[in-house]
Amino acid sequence: MALSSSISLFLCFMFLLFVPSFHASELDQETSRNSHASSFLPKSDIDLLEFPLNLEYFEAEFFLWGALGYGLDVVDPSLTKGGPPPVGPKRAKLSPLIRDVIAQFAYQEIGHLRAIKNTVRGFPRPLLNLTAESFAKVMNSAFGRPLFPPFNPYANEINYLLASYVIPYVGLTGYVGANAKLQSPRARRLVAGLLGVESGQDAVLRTLLYERSSRKVRPYGVSVAEFTNRISVLRNKLGGEGLKDEGLFVKKEWGAEGLIRGNVLAGNKYSISYERTPEEILRIVYGGGSESKPGGFYPKGADGSIAKSHLK
Ligand SMILES: *[C@@H]1O[C@H](CO)[C@@H](O)[C@H](O)[C@H]1NC(C)=O
Repeated sequence: MALSSSISLFLCFMFLLFVPSFHASELDQETSRNSHASSFLPKSDIDLLEFPLNLEYFEAEFFLWGALGYGLDVVDPSLTKGGPPPVGPKRAKLSPLIRDVIAQFAYQEIGHLRAIKNTVRGFPRPLLNLTAESFAKVMNSAFGRPLFPPFNPYANEINYLLASYVIPYVGLTGYVGANAKLQSPRARRLVAGLLGVESGQDAVLRTLLYERSSRKVRPYGVSVAEFTNRISVLRNKLGGEGLKDEGLFVKKEWGAEGLIRGNVLAGNKYSISYERTPEEILRIVYGGGSESKPGGFYPKGADGSIAKSHLK
């Protein structure tokens, strides 16, 4: 009796000892299984995981160039899979603090590229139009008139932060939307982790802009807050599915609990993040409100089977 109970106690002990280490090694493998990995995932999960690579490539290049003055072709060419270099990105004029923050974002995006590519095959870097003119066009659409001189994202810190407001948030809403459609726990774990850091980046950018919200963007005489509101209104219009985007200040009714105008984070009436489909995202990043007409930041369109299915 005493012997058998001490044996079972011993077995119990061994079990507890091994379970955690088994778990740890599973998690390590999670990101290192490489190309075989995708065979474990349903096709729809693969498509939904590949789609955000389009935005991660954009963010990696825009942040790397903005902070450091070079991109993936210098940092890790293998990640581009031979895709063409982006057109027109530049090192931005930034203070040491903001340059440091943006450099951190840039390396985070490289991690995201690696994590997605370790899970699904992915595709080469699409052609990205990161010229000042490309951003100027977005701002002109947001204001419904040409700004003069044309908006230049690389000219100063405020402009760079405003340009950064343009894209990462769109990726965030995409991850919220994708999560509900994923079937495998593994894909959902990855998307939750990507969403966590992307929304953190969005929060940092919004906070930095919120601190500067009443400042006038030179030489336009328009406040930072109004820029964010106009960009969000434009994205709602292009997305075509109603209110999913809010600037730094909203009508009180739209604020948290309908009680406050300050809107450092965007969310619905319950302060739950908005979600977007890949199609809504394409309508926004192509700049023209159609998922089948490439343009804007993606002159030749986005890649992956979801985006390709909309190109004739
Ligand atoms: C980039 O965008 C600008 C503004 O729309 C455009 O003038 C330029 O031709 C584009 N470049 C490429 C390579 O698509």
